[in-house]
Amino acid sequence: MLSKADNELLCRVGPGAPAGEVFRRFWNPVMLAEDLPSPGCQPVRLRILGEQLVAFRDNTGRLGLLEEWCLHRRVSLALGRVEDDGIRCLYHGWKFGLDGTVHETPNTKDVRVRQRLRARAYQAREAGGLIWAYMGPADKEPPFPKWRFLSIPRENLKVVRLDSGSNYMQVLEGGADTSHVGILHSDFARPGWMDGQFNVNTDEENPAALATAELAPELDVEDTEFGFHYAAIRALPPEGGKAMHNIRIVPIVMPSTRIIPARALQTVLFEVPIDDENTRTISVGYRTDGAGFDMSRYEELRGRTNPMLVDFVNRRYIGTWENRFGQDRSAMKDNWSGIPGVVMEDLAMSMSPGPIVDRSTEHLVGADAAIVRARRQLLDSVRRLQAGQDPIGVRADLAGVMACDENLPVDSRWQELAPGHHARQE
Ligand code: FES
Ligand SMILES: [Fe+2]
Repeated sequence: MLSKADNELLCRVGPGAPAGEVFRRFWNPVMLAEDLPSPGCQPVRLRILGEQLVAFRDNTGRLGLLEEWCLHRRVSLALGRVEDDGIRCLYHGWKFGLDGTVHETPNTKDVRVRQRLRARAYQAREAGGLIWAYMGPADKEPPFPKWRFLSIPRENLKVVRLDSGSNYMQVLEGGADTSHVGILHSDFARPGWMDGQFNVNTDEENPAALATAELAPELDVEDTEFGFHYAAIRALPPEGGKAMHNIRIVPIVMPSTRIIPARALQTVLFEVPIDDENTRTISVGYRTDGAGFDMSRYEELRGRTNPMLVDFVNRRYIGTWENRFGQDRSAMKDNWSGIPGVVMEDLAMSMSPGPIVDRSTEHLVGADAAIVRARRQLLDSVRRLQAGQDPIGVRADLAGVMACDENLPVDSRWQELAPGHHARQE
C-alpha cells in the first residue's frame, strides 16, 4: 500500500507538481511523426503533462512545439497559418517563431510588446517514427536517449499510440506486473486452461505466450542505471535431466517505460501522462533480429483493431463502464476474460477502478515487488529533485537495454541474459 500523500505525489503531473517535474527532466515521446506528415501540414493540438500545446512543422519541415494559446488574447494557434519560420495567429496576426519569440504584432505599432513577450516553447525532435519533447529547464537537458530501436530500420518498427482515461501509474503498474499474464491473458498464456491442460503457445511474437503454467513466479528485482529490472522466474519441467527455469526479464526505464518480451520480439511501452487522469501509451514493437514481421497480426492480437473499443481517428481507447469495456459475458464459457485482445484486457483492468486508484487500501503480495519498486524509484526521484539532484536514470545509456524470455538451467545467473544492464552503484 501507499499513503494517500505519497499516492498524490506519485500521480500528479501538471506544471509544478513534483512527479511532473521528474517527467520534465527526460526526453519523452509525445506523438507519432506521421501525425505531422509534411512541411506546413495541419497543426496538432497536444496535451502533455497537463499543458495544452500545439505541435506543427513549419514550411521548411522544422518542428515547433508551443503553448497552444496565443499570447495576445489566448485563442488557439492550432487554427493559425503555418509559415516558413513559425506560426501566425489567425485573429490579429501575431507571429511566433519556433523558439517562442514574437516576430510580428501587426495590430500594434508598439514594438516593445513583441520585445517584452515570449511564448512558452519546448524543444522537439523526430526519431524512430516518433516526435519527442523536452519540457524541462534548458540547463538540465539530458543527452538524447539512445534507445536500441532507433537503430532498427523504420519500416521494421511498429509504432502505435493509444490514449486512455486513467493515471499513467495505473497503466504502468499493469505493465510491470508479470503475475497477471498467466491469468488475465489465459487464452494466450495457457491455451488449454479450461480443461486443466497446459499447451505451450509456440507463437514467438506473442508477449503473452508463456513457456510454463506457473502462476506464482518468483520475482528478483534489481536497481540499474536506467531504473530497475526484474526477472520473473518460473519453474519448467527438467530438460535432459537438468533442472530449468523460464526467465522473463523486464526493464523498467525511468520515468515510466517498460520493455515487454516475446521470444523474438520486443515491445517498448512509454506511458506518457496527458494529465493526471489520462495517459498516452506509445508503443514501439520490433523483432530482436531487426527483421520485418506481420504488423496487422500484431495489432489484432492486442485487440487494437476493434472499432467498439478504439476510436481510430483520435487513437483513443473508448472502453468505459458504459460498454463494460467490451466484455461479452456469454463468451466467457470458453474465453477467460470475455474481452477481445491483450491490450484491451489490460486497459479494462487499469480503467475499472476509476482514473486515480486509492493505493492506501490495497493488499500487496510478493508478486507485486516490481510495482513497489516502480513507485519507489519515482518517489525517490521526486526527493532527489527536491534536494537539487538529478532524477534516477536521466543520463543512462539505453543502447543495450532489452527484455528477454528464455529458459536457463537453475544454477545460472539470470543477469547473464541482460549484459547491457548495469547495476546502479550508490
Ligand atoms: S489572439 Fe492571437 S493575435 Fe490576437
Ligand atoms: Fe497484460
